[in-house]
Amino acid sequence: MRVNKLNVRNVETSYPIFIGNGAISLLNKQFRSSFPKTKKVAIIFDKNVPVKFKNKIKKQLKKYNIFSKEYLTNEKLKSFKNVNNLVEILIKENFNRNDCLVAVGGGIIGDFVGFVASIFKRGINFVNLPSTLLAQVDSSIGGKTGVNSQGGKNLIGSFYQPKLVISELSILRSLPKREMICGFAEILKYALIKDHKFFYWILKNSQNLLKNNNDKLLLHAITKSCKNKIYFIVNDEKESGKRMILNFGHTFAHGIEAASSFSRKINHGEAVLIGMLLATKLSVMKNKCSISTLNKIKRIYKMNNLPGNLKKYFSPNKYHKIVNFMVNDKKNEDNKISLILLKKIGKTTTPGSIKISVGEMKKIMKKIN
Ligand SMILES: NC(=O)c1ccc[n+]([C@@H]2O[C@H](COP(=O)([O-])OP(=O)(O)OC[C@H]3O[C@@H](n4cnc5c(N)ncnc54)[C@H](O)[C@@H]3O)[C@@H](O)[C@H]2O)c1
Repeated sequence: MRVNKLNVRNVETSYPIFIGNGAISLLNKQFRSSFPKTKKVAIIFDKNVPVKFKNKIKKQLKKYNIFSKEYLTNEKLKSFKNVNNLVEILIKENFNRNDCLVAVGGGIIGDFVGFVASIFKRGINFVNLPSTLLAQVDSSIGGKTGVNSQGGKNLIGSFYQPKLVISELSILRSLPKREMICGFAEILKYALIKDHKFFYWILKNSQNLLKNNNDKLLLHAITKSCKNKIYFIVNDEKESGKRMILNFGHTFAHGIEAASSFSRKINHGEAVLIGMLLATKLSVMKNKCSISTLNKIKRIYKMNNLPGNLKKYFSPNKYHKIVNFMVNDKKNEDNKISLILLKKIGKTTTPGSIKISVGEMKKIMKKIN
């Protein structure tokens, strides 16, 4: 068993991330040292996590008084109504701040349970055991929690850090290829925004990585992505500066998801893949980036048959809807859309330097897709 350990250290918090095949067997020991006062544990599972892992996790925590609940997940779970329901259940079950809430699932369970943890009695201990590739490389760390609103994606939320993250590689074996691709979207993002060496590693290894049977490749991709994420979030926990670079492709993605009413037809990772390609095409159009950079990125899309064409999901006469949601995104000011564009592989524009009016964006959308 090889387990990598990373640490996230911010001004206010510090927590470990364990990544590896067999990492889950560290849960009991890490839990006891992180939470000496905890008596009760609420484990919130994604229903699709294989039973074998649900049992393993319960066994690791068997010394505690366990309450567990399962959810079938989709973006609609991330709602204020469901948050309220879970909070009421925890109150009824007599949980207190020394107890602990454990999320076992993908980004949806993590965002939802993390948000509940942040508001329950003004903050209960929170542990994240991510079970999708996307959650292991991205959403389980950094402390962004939240739910959706009718006005858009993730518009209600908080910054609330987990106290422990364990990414078990073997839990990913049951993930459908579509979900592997969604996780790959964020891995590719980390290479594009910061790490050209990692990009060339991806160019060489992406096809084998996506076969989801090689722990060595998975361990490298997850560890590298987490290290890159940590670089952006340390010292900018609340997203006032360089953390905004992580939104590369995501402003488009959030608009696409909201304009499709958070339908399963297009999920978050797929929207991110389309969003990153749109952002790169716009970078070329604005003379920030070369065509050859765009073509290198397109090669990865072609090799792995990644979704990159918005027209497959939206007719161009509906693009204005996407733009209307993009301007609602939290990171925008003065009614303009703030975007991160690409300069070259591994380097983006500075946060706040590219702002585009709604009118211009509506025209651009038709030109870049
Ligand atoms: N907080 C952050 O920083 C952050 C970052 C990126 C994305 N996100 C959010 O993450 C969400 C997307 O997360 P996701 O892609 O993990 O989606 P998800 O949580 O919907 O999981 C994807 C699918 O995989 C299933 N699943 C989960 N674990 C499984 C397993 N081990 N085996 C088989 N199936 C399994 C789920 O039931 C679901 O159907 C979005 O809501 C997005 O906004 C948050």
